[in-house]
Amino acid sequence: MLGGGLDELYREVILDHSKNPRNYRELPAPDVCVKGHNPLCGDQIILELKISGGTVEAAGFHGSGCAISQASASMLTDSIKGKSLEEAERLIQQVKGMVMGTGPTVSDGNGDLEALEGVKKFPVRVKCATLCWNTLQQAILTYRAGGHVAEQVEK
Ligand code: FES
Repeated sequence: MLGGGLDELYREVILDHSKNPRNYRELPAPDVCVKGHNPLCGDQIILELKISGGTVEAAGFHGSGCAISQASASMLTDSIKGKSLEEAERLIQQVKGMVMGTGPTVSDGNGDLEALEGVKKFPVRVKCATLCWNTLQQAILTYRAGGHVAEQVEK
């Protein structure tokens, strides 16, 4: 699945995140909780956020999925902590552009995000990488609308 097409370094970073996912946990009292679901494979992640004053205080995820979807969620939760919702939305667009091959490399400093760039060479895996980011977008929209729980189904 993670074939030799991914550059070796990036491959190792993705494998490390999928085997030792950061923030793989349920938050005690999340402000918003969204289930992201990829109907093509049945994989799903549940993303939970603690938000205070328009800033992401904590992010956690759980669920089951392929290595890329888990690694991407792990990187996401590392990257958005401490970011405002607007900054998180900008990051969503940047990461999606990178993995879809329409935008530049994203170097966020603490999230190893650039390792996801190799996915753009494998169109069938793009949804694996974007699942959690679309789920994050839904979480932000849900939170802003005053909601607490929602679902994001990939199309
Ligand atoms: Fe299901 Fe990757 S194969 S999200």
